[in-house]
Amino acid sequence: MRWIEVDTYQEMSLKAADCFEQQLLQKPDSVLGLATGGSPIGLYEELVKRYKQRVFSFSQVKTFNLDEYVGVSPADVTSYHSYMEEHLFSQVDIEKNDIHIPNGLAPNLQEECVRYEQLILQSGGIDLQLLGIGVNGHIGFNEPGTSFQSKTHVVTLADDTRAANSIYFPSKQEVPEYAISMGIETIMQAKEIILLAFGEQKMRAIERLKQEGISEDFPASRLKEHPNVTIIYGR
Ligand code: PGA
Repeated sequence: MRWIEVDTYQEMSLKAADCFEQQLLQKPDSVLGLATGGSPIGLYEELVKRYKQRVFSFSQVKTFNLDEYVGVSPADVTSYHSYMEEHLFSQVDIEKNDIHIPNGLAPNLQEECVRYEQLILQSGGIDLQLLGIGVNGHIGFNEPGTSFQSKTHVVTLADDTRAANSIYFPSKQEVPEYAISMGIETIMQAKEIILLAFGEQKMRAIERLKQEGISEDFPASRLKEHPNVTIIYGR
């Protein structure tokens, strides 16, 4: 694991953008694994800026998002479809057909999970996967206790997670209870992983990641067994 400590959120975003830039220059048809939440907003802003400066293009890129809420329409402002459209996709030249986000409205959620996992495999696998980390150590929506062998699956969101995400909803009661998430094994199959964490509330999770052993009680700890992970963090 490579640890990069930064002083500001902006510095974290620029360093992460440098990793994406390197990836896209080396392989313009990269398969990117993307994340939502507060951590990557600055990174996406910077990627849009560099795209507009013609440093790189998204025209050959394929993307797979980590997760989506169950029961939330893609058109709803609280969906991760909307988040991605707002912060990245509407501002760059990515082909609509190359964007993949789990369908939380699929009539058969189990089939949707299998379909998503197969699409990732058919694309040749994820070259660079972006992650945040939950205060409880979740990655994607893989909450404590999730099997390290998990593939894309339906998850029940932890109370901590619903509380943290309630800032995006009118009330905590309206935060969905379920989501579809790439599994821990799905994430581990990415060739390279970057995890972003900024702010005091994330530092306990970062300290645990540094100090504790590998255990399903702390999902991010599994990343210690991945050969190419960079953690960019600060308080
Ligand atoms: P955040 O969420 O980027 O909004 O802090 C990260 C996560 O919970 O995985």
